[in-house]
Amino acid sequence: MANFIVKGGKFLEGEIEIGGSKNAALPAMAASLLFKNNPEFRNLPKIEDIFRMGELLKKLRETKEIDFEVAKKIRASILLVGPALARFGKITFPHPGGCVIGARPIDAFLDGWKAMGAAVKEIPPDSSKSINSIPFYELSAPSGLKGRDYTFRVPSVTGTEGLMMTAVLASGSTILRNAAMEPEIAHLAYFLNKNGADIKGAGTHTINIEGSGGALLEGKYPFSAPPDRIEAGSFLILGALLAKELLIKNFAAEELTALTGALKEAGAEFNFDKNFISVKRSPALKAVNVKTKEYPGFATDLQAPFCVLATQAKGASMIHETIFEGRLSYIEYLNKMGAKITLCDPYRAIVNGPTPLRAWTLERPDIRAGLAFILAALLAEGESKIGNIYQIDRGYEAIDSRLRSIGAAIKRI
Ligand code: EPZ
Repeated sequence: MANFIVKGGKFLEGEIEIGGSKNAALPAMAASLLFKNNPEFRNLPKIEDIFRMGELLKKLRETKEIDFEVAKKIRASILLVGPALARFGKITFPHPGGCVIGARPIDAFLDGWKAMGAAVKEIPPDSSKSINSIPFYELSAPSGLKGRDYTFRVPSVTGTEGLMMTAVLASGSTILRNAAMEPEIAHLAYFLNKNGADIKGAGTHTINIEGSGGALLEGKYPFSAPPDRIEAGSFLILGALLAKELLIKNFAAEELTALTGALKEAGAEFNFDKNFISVKRSPALKAVNVKTKEYPGFATDLQAPFCVLATQAKGASMIHETIFEGRLSYIEYLNKMGAKITLCDPYRAIVNGPTPLRAWTLERPDIRAGLAFILAALLAEGESKIGNIYQIDRGYEAIDSRLRSIGAAIKRI
C-alpha cells in the first residue's frame, strides 16, 4: 500500500490550478443513466472516486445491476440508485460505503422513493440472503414513479441530487422542500436542463421538477466539471500557512465566502482577481471560531484543513462540526504532532495556538482529513509518513506532483 513521505518546514511558491469538482462530477456521471445516449464529460478529475463511478456505470449499463463490491467503497454509489430505478423499474444496492465520518444513513432517499411510488425491501445484514454482512435494499416501481411534494427531514446533498434525478423521469410534478443548496446541485440541474429536463429552483431550498413520464433525455450538451471548491479552499489555507506567494487559478470565490470570511478574520492575506487568487503566508494569524453548516455556511469538508490553520493562530479557536458526528477523529494525530487541542465532545474542539508541529506517522484519514494531514506534515519539522493514501487519492488528483511543483517535499513510496 502506498504512503506519502513529507518533509516539512519549507515555504511554497508558484502557481497551482484547481481541478474539476469531484462532488459535481459524480452526480452528473450518475445522471448519464437518464439519457438515451451517453453525454460527453469534460474536465473530470483523475481521481479514484471518479474511476469507481465509471466502473459502476459500465457494469450497470451491461447488466442492469450495481456492483456491490465497488458500491461499498464510495458513498456516491447511492447516486446511481434513483436514475437506475427510474430507468429500469427496479434495482438492488448495498448500503453505500465511503468515508467513516459518522452514521451516514440513507432514510431521506428511501422515504423519497417510497413517496414516489417505489416498494422498498430492506435485507438485513444477518439474513441468509445478505452478501458479506452488509444490509442491502431491493427497490421496484412496477407501475412507474410519480411526482410528489416531498420535504427532506435534513437537507441532504446527495439526497437532493438523487431525488431530483429520479423526478426527471417520473410522471407529473415533484416539489422538493428543505432541499440542500450546495452549488453542485445547481451545476447538476444546469446540465440536465440544457439537455431537456425541466428543473427550477436548484440551489435554493425549494426545487420544482416536471417529470418526463419516462422519456429519456438527449445528450446534446456536454457536462464540464466546474472547479472543485473544496480543493480550492484547502489550497487557500495551505497558502495562508506556507506560501511565499501562491497563485491559485480557477478559484470560484463566490462559492467560498464562508471560508474567505473566516480567513480574513484570522488575518490571512490574499487578493482576488477574476478567476484566481494570490495568497501569502500570514505570520500573525489570530484564533477564529468556525461552525460547519450547510451551504452557504462553512463547509464540513474544509473543517479539518482549517483546524490545522488554527494550530498556528494565536489564541483559542473553537471548531464546531455540526454535520457529521465522527469528523474530528484526526485530532488525536495533530495532538501527537504537538498541537494543543481539547476535544470537548464528538462535535467540538478547542485549539490553542500557536504551537510548532513535529513530524509523525499519520494513519487512517478520510479524504479531507487526509489533506489536513498533508498540511500538518508540510508545517512540521522533520519527515512525516502518511498511510492509507488511497483515501487522499479518492479526492485529489496527483496531489503529490502538484504540490511538488510549488516546492513541497512530498513523495509517494
Ligand atoms: C455530501 O455527502 C458530500 N459527498 C460530502 O463530501 C459532504 O461532506 C457532505 O455532502 C456535506 O456537505 C458528495 O457530494 C458525494 P449529506 P452526503 O447527506 O450527501 C444526514 C467528501 O469528502 N443525513 O448532505 O452524503 C447526514 O447524516 C464528502 O467529498 C440523514 O440523516 O451528505 C448528515 O448529518 C464527504 N439521512 C447530514 O444529513 C439521509 O438519508 C448531511 O449529509 C442522508 C443524510
